[in-house]
Amino acid sequence: MDAKKRIKTLREQLNRYNYEYHVQDNPTISDVEYDKLMRELKNLEDEHPEYVSSDSPTMRVGGEVLDEFKKVEHAIPMLSLDNAFNADELRDFDKRVRKITSEVTYVVEPKIDGLAASLIYEDGQFKRAATRGNGSVGEDITHNVRTIKSVPLSLPEKVNIEVRGEIYMRKAAFMALNDEREANGDNKFKNPRNAAAGSIRQLDSKVAAKRDLDMFVYVKTEEDSPDNTSHMETLNTLKAYGFKINPEIKRVSSIDEAIERTHYFENNREEFAYDIDGAVIKVNERNLYGTIGYTARSPKWAIAYKFKAEEAITKIDSIFFQVGRTGQITPVAALSPVDIQGSTVSRATLHNDAYVSQKDIREGDAVIIRKAGDIIPEVVKVISERRSGSEQPFEMITHCPECGKPLEKADNEADTYCVNPDCPARKVESLIHFSSRGAMNIEGLGERIVEHFHNEGYLSDIPDIYKLKDYREALIVRAGFGPKSIDKLLKNIEASKNNSLEHLLFGLGIRYVGKKVSKVLAMHFDDLFAIMKADEATLTSVDEIGEKIASSIIQYFEDSHNCAMIEELKSFGVNMTFKGTKPKQGVFYAKRVVLTGTLESMTRNEAKEAIEAEGGKVTGSVSKNTDYVCAGNDAGSKLDKAEKLGVEVIDESTLRAMLNI
Ligand code: IVH
Repeated sequence: MDAKKRIKTLREQLNRYNYEYHVQDNPTISDVEYDKLMRELKNLEDEHPEYVSSDSPTMRVGGEVLDEFKKVEHAIPMLSLDNAFNADELRDFDKRVRKITSEVTYVVEPKIDGLAASLIYEDGQFKRAATRGNGSVGEDITHNVRTIKSVPLSLPEKVNIEVRGEIYMRKAAFMALNDEREANGDNKFKNPRNAAAGSIRQLDSKVAAKRDLDMFVYVKTEEDSPDNTSHMETLNTLKAYGFKINPEIKRVSSIDEAIERTHYFENNREEFAYDIDGAVIKVNERNLYGTIGYTARSPKWAIAYKFKAEEAITKIDSIFFQVGRTGQITPVAALSPVDIQGSTVSRATLHNDAYVSQKDIREGDAVIIRKAGDIIPEVVKVISERRSGSEQPFEMITHCPECGKPLEKADNEADTYCVNPDCPARKVESLIHFSSRGAMNIEGLGERIVEHFHNEGYLSDIPDIYKLKDYREALIVRAGFGPKSIDKLLKNIEASKNNSLEHLLFGLGIRYVGKKVSKVLAMHFDDLFAIMKADEATLTSVDEIGEKIASSIIQYFEDSHNCAMIEELKSFGVNMTFKGTKPKQGVFYAKRVVLTGTLESMTRNEAKEAIEAEGGKVTGSVSKNTDYVCAGNDAGSKLDKAEKLGVEVIDESTLRAMLNI
């Protein structure tokens, strides 16, 4: 079969599988098969750049990097919605509509808590995506929206349409992302909405591509000619075009039915796979939209019913302090238990002392608390009118609540730390971390067991884990384990000795050394002792390792306790080397290259792959960390920037010479 035909077939197949998976939630092939077809298509497109097309499924992996966001004007403004907070206000809305016409039905939709976006298709091809912005002018996010798998890149008909909808992140994707960020020492997102917004506001589309974003489409903008189809019919057409339409959307014939449906959403909001913050009620008859009209801000034919805020009033019984694995001290409010949206809340994080002082939170205060993005409860504000006068202003502790040693705070940091390596609280937390899944992955040595063994005196430091086997009998008798489960645990402990270096490194719990950084370091240095010996310059010369991480690593290994612990682990036979596979260390090993202008003898993609095959990384924008800028014909601003920053500029023939091609 010729390449052109095969490319076409592959694209059609992949688009269908993609649709089944991401829009219909009903995959019909395995991920492995999907990846295989995707690779075949990618290879064919690389061999035949003349067939590369912007609507190919291969375009969804990202790669385009912008220098800045372009502003785009919305031809039809992106309006907001008027709000209703109770059933009476919804009935008032119905009365206003019925003054104009009594022949009306409604459509009720969940109000997705994400961010609004507009998508433009020309001749059935996805052309542009933009944020709402201020309603008149938004930002061009085409590069990122192309990576959202539930957004079709081409439609079955050659139509010119603009559709609008909500970009969001499912709760599960949000939690997985935050777990990963926590492990890597990155700040966590507060809620799925912020995570979605943060992902869409990335200049590098590779980042957005990894974020598992999704999009529900909920309107098609009106053309100049009056439209006689109903809103429900329009949604069905959009569904047939391949857009993801929320399956909970229903047509109802009266406002009472609409109210019933909004209550159903409100009572079941926890069951939704994504956050919803209300319901939207829209007139179904689109031909009435013009007559019913608009205010400057919003259409009069639709209204948003906002769910009751997930807030509650309760009392702070006391404030206590938690010591984390890194020694970080977190003030926590112990609350009189209160129900918020179906679950009982008895604690709220107070983050750090600056946060408590700023809100002037005191023991004994009546407070309004809120579930932040449905996850960790937070104090919204103190109801200071309810103070009796006996509440004492908050004072940060100066000594660790667990070990009594003085606490420390870095100059420009908000957090306070217990730096005593022997602090029992830190120890338990670090033992739990060491055996956790992303680290040494010792099944059976979870939080409860670690605490139990710690209390019984069997576990104090990490190396004690490898000494547990000497206490097999005692553990069976004293710690109340069956011989079978102890043997299983001991076997898992032994097996963990063979883990590749990155697991051990992450398990040590060095500040800012999360999963990803551990992998980068393990791959680069091969051996833990090489990392221990590295100075700051050596560490920061590694791609993705900055000064903050480097100085934390140095500080950790300057501590003789830590070095002794490593030696002890080594003496028990714990592996200290990298066992994974590495990319080739070619001429571009660990170098960052920016390609600009048009290359004559190869496509950009070919150049990129050749550089990557030699261990290099191709990035989109020039910075002081760029090693080479390869300038083809008509190179523009990136070349200027390279010259300004003193980055080495090479031409195409030098590139070929370096690549030996
Ligand atoms: S319709 C002109 N439908 O809510 C009408 N909006 O408060 C445009 N939203 O900016 C909006 N789910 O971001 C509509 N099913 C839904 C929605 C929805 C969420 C958001 C949207 C809009 C905001 C208005």
